[in-house]
Amino acid sequence: MNKAQTADPDMLSKWQAFISADEFDHPDIQSDSTGCWESVYLPAAGSNKNTTTPFNSGEIARANIRNTDLVDVVLPVMVDIYESLKGSGFQVLLTDENGLVVKRIPVSESPLFDNWDEQILGANAIGTVIRTKKPMQISGRMHYQHKLRSLTSSAIPIFSYHRELIAVLALVGPKNEDHSHVLTMLQKAAENIINKWNIVQKNRQLLTYNNHLKNIINTMTDGIIIISDTGIIEQANPAAARILGKDTRELSATHLGTILENQPFLNKMLDDGIPFTDMELFLDISSGRIHCLASGQTSRDDKGNITGGIIVLRSIDKVQRMVNSVWGTRAELNFKDIIGNGRTIRTTIEMARIAANNMSNVLLQGESGTGKEIFAQAIHNESTRCKGPFVAVNCGAIPRELVGSELFGYVDGAFTGARRGGKLGKFEMAAGGTLFLDEIGDMPLDQQVVLLRVLQDKLVTRIGDSKEIPVDVRVICATNKNLLREVEKGNFRQDLYYRLNVISIIIPPLCNRREDIGLLVNHYLVKLGVQDNTISNVMNPAVMQYLISYSWPGNVRELQNAIERLAIIADTRHITVADLPHEIRLSKNNFSSEDEPASDLHESYTRKKKQLIAEQESEQILTMLRKLRGNLSEVAKAMGFSRTTLYRKLEAYNISRDSW
Ligand SMILES: Nc1ncnc2c1ncn2[C@@H]1O[C@H](COP(=O)(O)OP(=O)(O)OP(=O)(O)O)[C@@H](O)[C@H]1O
Ligand SMILES: [Mg+2]
Repeated sequence: MNKAQTADPDMLSKWQAFISADEFDHPDIQSDSTGCWESVYLPAAGSNKNTTTPFNSGEIARANIRNTDLVDVVLPVMVDIYESLKGSGFQVLLTDENGLVVKRIPVSESPLFDNWDEQILGANAIGTVIRTKKPMQISGRMHYQHKLRSLTSSAIPIFSYHRELIAVLALVGPKNEDHSHVLTMLQKAAENIINKWNIVQKNRQLLTYNNHLKNIINTMTDGIIIISDTGIIEQANPAAARILGKDTRELSATHLGTILENQPFLNKMLDDGIPFTDMELFLDISSGRIHCLASGQTSRDDKGNITGGIIVLRSIDKVQRMVNSVWGTRAELNFKDIIGNGRTIRTTIEMARIAANNMSNVLLQGESGTGKEIFAQAIHNESTRCKGPFVAVNCGAIPRELVGSELFGYVDGAFTGARRGGKLGKFEMAAGGTLFLDEIGDMPLDQQVVLLRVLQDKLVTRIGDSKEIPVDVRVICATNKNLLREVEKGNFRQDLYYRLNVISIIIPPLCNRREDIGLLVNHYLVKLGVQDNTISNVMNPAVMQYLISYSWPGNVRELQNAIERLAIIADTRHITVADLPHEIRLSKNNFSSEDEPASDLHESYTRKKKQLIAEQESEQILTMLRKLRGNLSEVAKAMGFSRTTLYRKLEAYNISRDSW
């Protein structure tokens, strides 16, 4: 609340009477001090003109502590002022922003007051400065207190950088001394103090920034090395020491060149100021080989001269983890996604669970569409490597000549058409996780040799390079070929077959687990959002009989596609046998739902059916190829099979480029 509003008019008149009775004669009184009289309400001082504030050590101590920095700066200035006026009875005072005395010179003389608050002492230069924030001089009877009436008090505010009052510097001395230059002297002193104090504050700020920076550097997971212009390590954080397999103390004061030997980019950075980004480094140290990425940037002074540089090291594991998390090389599917409750599939799942708890290589064999991919992902997700990447490579979908570079990577300039800077192979990308080699049966023989060596030695050599990179990868392979037969035919290396086939899982075709068809149909109806999805509500019972008795050469994938088509009808009406695709309707004519067909009959049927499907399919592929202007990936997607399958079918149906 404003002091003027609380002023007691009675008290004010007493005060004015007091002043006039005591031969008051000050022609140059400043309006602020007059204002002070008018506004000041003096509950404590009003009744006793001789009041001195009781010493409150707690308050003084607090004031002292808050202004420690300032006191250090002000004290020498106060001493100078005192020395220049020595012998004339002056006291130099420093108070905090509330008027509490922080320092007083000379200390030998008894203190006048400990608290110069206007509310307590009435008009005095310090108290008035606190209120008006302006320099002030008050002389003799202009003071309220008797004790001050023989004195002149002069005070000057000291502001912070943000224009907040932080202290008051004051001079109190006999009023008959010459006080004409005191305010100017105090003003100069205050400027001097503020300049020095700002420097102190800036230093303190820099110190805080520096500490923040140190904390950041020390807690960063990237390695940071700060070097001088000659390449001497000035500082290295714990992460850098960890990546380089050294102690931080061991690193300091050593030349970076002794650690990063033969790295021309380091000299280019220090000599020519050329920065480098994510350079791949292989460093041989006593405990093995370090594989990391390094980036470097020079530091310069205000004239642009190179003063040193900063090197950032990133361990390759971290980079790989990051790439994998961004590019989604993760397995989404789990054992719970494998639909089937029959004995056959349960045995297969059991086997796969055993494989998940084991780190040996796994070979998944099964016809197309039986769920090899789901099994591979589920095994990974249930293994101890589930947090690591799951990298899938379809060996059949990559042009033969590129299989090697895709799997093992290559270095800059390894072959024509190679990407600048080289490329990380899938083996390295899968580090710490699982590499799923799909369609392993399509792997070219020459690359089979390389793969065998990698699996044996757990070392990868990029194409065009001689360095061996350790890789920690679990391999799961899949094929829809009979791999052993491929070995017999000489298309697949026997030694590789045995290395891959440590745990062999044969995924049954759907026709061998017809008991699961109902469950799968239901699953897909629900998944496709068919509202009233109980089978009996959606289709005639006869339809289900057809679905169960059909041989499903395309396995679960084919079933999934068939249900997708039926689901469209299911939304509008009941599905009847007439809605079923031709080949399924044909199957019921030949077989009962319960029994497997006699094999010769089955074979002749299969041949017939295959021919029929082939004709239909080849026609469909051609239509899609024309529609999608030959985009094979799109066509494969639209037809619901993999690119490899599409390639195979194009070859089988003799569809060449000129056909579309
Ligand atoms: N047991 C199953 N439960 C649920 N869905 C399945 C099951 N088996 C396969 N599928 C589904 O069938 C489709 C084909 O499965 P997947 O891709 O795993 O087969 P694949 O054996 O790898 O086939 P290909 O040899 O053609 O690559 C996928 O959509 C998959 O989700
Ligand atoms: Mg597959």
